[in-house]
Amino acid sequence: MRRTVTEVLDAPEGEEVELLGWIWNKREHGKLVFVDLRDGTGVVQVAAKAGTTDQQSLELLRELGRESVVKVRGLVVRDPRAPFGVEVRCLRAEKVSESMGDFPVRKGMGAKALYDVRHLHIRSPRLTALMRIRSNLVWAVHEYFRSRGFVEIHCPTFITAAVEGGATLFEVNYFGRKVYLTQSVQFYQEAAIYALEKVYSVQPSFRAEKSRTPRHLTEFWHVEAEMAFADLETLLRTIEELVRYTVIRTAELSERELRVLGRRIPVKEVEGPFYRIRYSEALEILRKRGKELPWGSDLGADEERVISNEFDRPVFVTHYPREAKAFYHKLDPEDPRVTLSADLLAPRGNGEIVGSGVRIDDLEELMQRIRENGLNPDDYAWYLDLRRYGSVPHAGFGMGVERVLKWILDLPSVRVASLFPRTPSRTYP
Ligand code: 4AD
Ligand code: MG
Repeated sequence: MRRTVTEVLDAPEGEEVELLGWIWNKREHGKLVFVDLRDGTGVVQVAAKAGTTDQQSLELLRELGRESVVKVRGLVVRDPRAPFGVEVRCLRAEKVSESMGDFPVRKGMGAKALYDVRHLHIRSPRLTALMRIRSNLVWAVHEYFRSRGFVEIHCPTFITAAVEGGATLFEVNYFGRKVYLTQSVQFYQEAAIYALEKVYSVQPSFRAEKSRTPRHLTEFWHVEAEMAFADLETLLRTIEELVRYTVIRTAELSERELRVLGRRIPVKEVEGPFYRIRYSEALEILRKRGKELPWGSDLGADEERVISNEFDRPVFVTHYPREAKAFYHKLDPEDPRVTLSADLLAPRGNGEIVGSGVRIDDLEELMQRIRENGLNPDDYAWYLDLRRYGSVPHAGFGMGVERVLKWILDLPSVRVASLFPRTPSRTYP
């Protein structure tokens, strides 16, 4: 009966097993052939040598190139010299399929060349481990929301009006009409809370940002949530709980994958309470660090790096000025120059991982802010309706999946966290 690599790694010494998988790497030492056999669960070393392995199988393993597929029968041996301490001594090997020529993924290739063959590179044990960790992270997000009474909803990708400003909208020709790819499902979630009160979504968002930075993708996965009757305090507590739960749970679920990557998830960074500072205090920190920023400007990547480097745990920056935030943010009744908004910055210079805020629930106020921003209220007719019928105070947030992975796995870029990253210069493969 077929066993997976993971099952084999846990199998007792001497057990006879059958494996099915791809030849990831091969080394020959005199009469010995070592094959790193890869399947959907991991990699295990298979050792073949005359005497143990039958002659025909030994020759087959010598001939087959990388990514050829084999069925291997062998004995489990605990050997501290083998990766993960387990080796399979091959008795017989059978060919399932043979690779044509040299596999285009080789040691020493540059980043661009590797992204050109990403469809093949994702088979590497490191990227496989990464994708498993990503899957565990999204699983943890679902666990969190489901256990707190949130209902998952699915929202459209084609939209007709900007959520996060017109500058980053992708236009789509929709049967001759101009529509856009969504930047956020926030407005649809705001509609849904009048039916369900607490909702969340996990789906892609699109940003036509030409910025080629380690934190920007043109298509990213967005975890978003919206809550009826929530104020700023409830909002911040929910975000903090979600981030803490997700990071700790992902670490728990991903032990084996983290060993493959040689990484540790910095669980300590989320155990204590997150810091909270106001935008005005952020400006003060920047000034002390020689980075003067005029009041009203949004914090860019550089500023966020400086601020998050000051803290050993995530820090909320709250009360951004109205001119730095989208029109839907509620103004602080105690100081209408600022909004009831908050961004969560991850430590070690990582910067923004969550954007959030309390929404305007008053019809007149919302109309006025739309006009103030040079937008046309007609474009937001259905959104305005939500303030006509049973309007309630409410708040919500959005968290970027790739940004969180970059932070907790200390990746050089969000691109690494994406199976097939989309950037201004890349839509292939
Ligand atoms: O701060 P943003 O733009 O907020 C919104 O879209 C709100 N409408 C969300 C809401 O309240 N429902 O984006 C939220 C998060 C950011 O903090 C960041 O983690 C991620 O989405 N994000 C990106 N990730 C990768 N590439 C990009 N270009 C991103 N833009 C935003
Ligand atoms: Mg933001």
